[in-house]
Amino acid sequence: MVRSLLIILMFLLCSGEVFAARDIQRLPDPRYTGRITLEESLAHRRSERSFQTAGLTNEQIAQLLWAAQGITERTWGFRTAPSAGGTYPLEIYLVKRDGVFHYLPLTHSLEKTKDTDCRPSLTRASLGQDFLGDAPVVIVIAADFEKTEVKFGARAQRYVHLEAGHVAENILLQAEALGLGAAPVGSFWDDVVKAVLDLPYAHDPLYLIPVGYIK
Ligand SMILES: Cc1cc2nc3c(=O)[nH]c(=O)nc-3n(C[C@H](O)[C@H](O)[C@H](O)COP(=O)(O)O)c2cc1C
Repeated sequence: MVRSLLIILMFLLCSGEVFAARDIQRLPDPRYTGRITLEESLAHRRSERSFQTAGLTNEQIAQLLWAAQGITERTWGFRTAPSAGGTYPLEIYLVKRDGVFHYLPLTHSLEKTKDTDCRPSLTRASLGQDFLGDAPVVIVIAADFEKTEVKFGARAQRYVHLEAGHVAENILLQAEALGLGAAPVGSFWDDVVKAVLDLPYAHDPLYLIPVGYIK
């Protein structure tokens, strides 16, 4: 009896998820109308690499993350970007001054996963691309390849990368529509980014997208 109680106690103490108070914040609802047309976003989008330090509002952050992976259909859980076989292998992280956050599409919320400002380390991880340290937010597209591999085998390698492109373009066009600048960054040390952000083992970083007001 005592032994069983001890085992249960050990299990509860060791499994952080049971007791850890998760720091989750619900984001403002997305807006479905904008100040410019899709065509204007397409015509004006440019990779921007010079950012003001001004932060983004919660509304702007919510809109960018919704554009990346927001749920747009509740029955099947379809999202703003297409996904091979609806396997949704992509995970979105947000890096800003006050820490690292994981986007939870189902509840349209952000879970804090780290307390420190990792932007300077992202600059080092991306071979000195210092605009990653200047931008108020960096959106990270990571992938859990296994989610798509279980359905498509080796073909998943192609599909997951195609999906990251869809999501990145959604973010870039949404940034443009919000009057913000952004750039897709693919040049970085994968393992360093993963370590700096403390990403889970299964989440491999594919893209870094700094977003902010341009100078
Ligand atoms: C897969 C990919 C990786 C990229 N990686 C970087 C990068 O590491 N750093 C950077 O400054 N721009 C990067 N870019 C942005 C390109 O340099 C940019 O798209 C190109 O110069 C065309 O300019 P535009 O985006 O303004 O049309 C990348 C673009 C793509 C599609």
